[in-house]
Amino acid sequence: MRQTTRSVAQAAAILGAIACGAPALAQRSWIAVCPLSEPQSRASVAAFAKIVPTLNQEPRCTNCHGGLDPTTSPIHPSVDLPSADNPGDDCTFCHDNVVNKTNGEESRWHLAPKFLEFINKSDQQLCEQLKGHAEGPCSDGSCGPWPMAEKFLGHMTDDEGGDNFTATAFAGTKGLSDHPIQKPRITHAELLALGHAWTDVTDGEWQGSRDCGCAPTKYALRVSAVTTIPGDDFRVDMLPVDIPIEFEDDGTFKGDSAVQMRGIDPGECIATSSASTRLVATGKAVQTWRERTFDVTIQSAQPTTSQASAHCPEGTMSRSFTASSRDVWKVKMQGTVGEVVSFAAPSPAPAVRITARVEIVKLP
Ligand code: HEC
Ligand code: HEC
Repeated sequence: MRQTTRSVAQAAAILGAIACGAPALAQRSWIAVCPLSEPQSRASVAAFAKIVPTLNQEPRCTNCHGGLDPTTSPIHPSVDLPSADNPGDDCTFCHDNVVNKTNGEESRWHLAPKFLEFINKSDQQLCEQLKGHAEGPCSDGSCGPWPMAEKFLGHMTDDEGGDNFTATAFAGTKGLSDHPIQKPRITHAELLALGHAWTDVTDGEWQGSRDCGCAPTKYALRVSAVTTIPGDDFRVDMLPVDIPIEFEDDGTFKGDSAVQMRGIDPGECIATSSASTRLVATGKAVQTWRERTFDVTIQSAQPTTSQASAHCPEGTMSRSFTASSRDVWKVKMQGTVGEVVSFAAPSPAPAVRITARVEIVKLP
């Protein structure tokens, strides 16, 4: 019975731990958590949907973004596109009326590259494409993806100071000097307002990776723990459990899930113990290109109830056990999908060692 009693105590001890220990970043991938609430996510998708018709139906935009092949288009004089061994026709020979760059330099007319084409793409694809193109700077060689809303807005204003196609599109000249003006159906101010309405959903700053605000996203904290006594075969496992988390508008989150613990003690008795409780996860995440934090607190929702039984040579015994412990684990993470922290949680008894593990997972 000695071993059985101990396994019960240790099952309970798992939740009676206060985590300290420096979290170790075991794995790195570049998918940042999207800390948007469900209403924010829906509002973002809806705000972007109002921009889409300009991207894929407005000829002043689409004709440069995959809508027109200047070599075959019937509305276009046949032109010889430049290639490696062929200088081709100079587009500026005819398209010489492109609005200057913001710094006053001349802009040169050319098509958008294939990966920035707008036609035959879903709203979500376009949203992720724009956010991908607006990825931020890399300070330490580890580039994003940290899309920057200001880069997108800058593009909608004056192509971020580059060849000024946005202003040219709104001038309605097609970059030509002697051609009837055909202005877009939307004004530049209206398009900018739609752009701001989209980025304002998240307070003017984009969060998370490309998909954030382009489609719904869901995450969970995968939590597990192992309790051992060094030099003894005894262990209690808290099996991995996914705690789904939901974000509020301010990036705070909450979630809870039932957990089971199983103890195995290969002593002279065949002893098993189990305990169950609910784990509650709370925290706050910020995932912008400026700041990345993901602070998590995990605690048991109620005192742990444990049960144990032992099959010993002299008979079977069982008992129930309620631990009163309500202690907390606090961990600091970066907020990357797949990120893992393993840490030693202080235990109630000096001989007992508890190792806990928290992983951020993206749910389908
Ligand atoms: C003369 C051709 C041309 C026209 C007209 C044009 N674009 Fe572009 N666009 C480009 C090129 C080239 C790029 C890629 C280089 C760059 O970033 O400036 C681009 C890039 C973009 C991007 C990706 C940049 C980002 O930050 O996401 C967006 C969005 C965009 N254009 C929107 C528009 C809209 C909206 C219009 C119409 C109002 C338009 N473009 C008209 C050529 C054009
Ligand atoms: C010989 C003169 C000429 C040359 C060279 C030329 N274009 Fe054009 N392009 C035109 C004319 C004229 C139109 C307007 C056709 C129309 O709308 O009826 C036009 C229209 C376009 C449009 C549609 C713009 C819009 O807003 O709808 C695109 C895109 C375009 N050209 C791309 C190019 C590219 C890329 C090159 C260089 C490889 C090029 N063009 C070279 C004369 C030329």
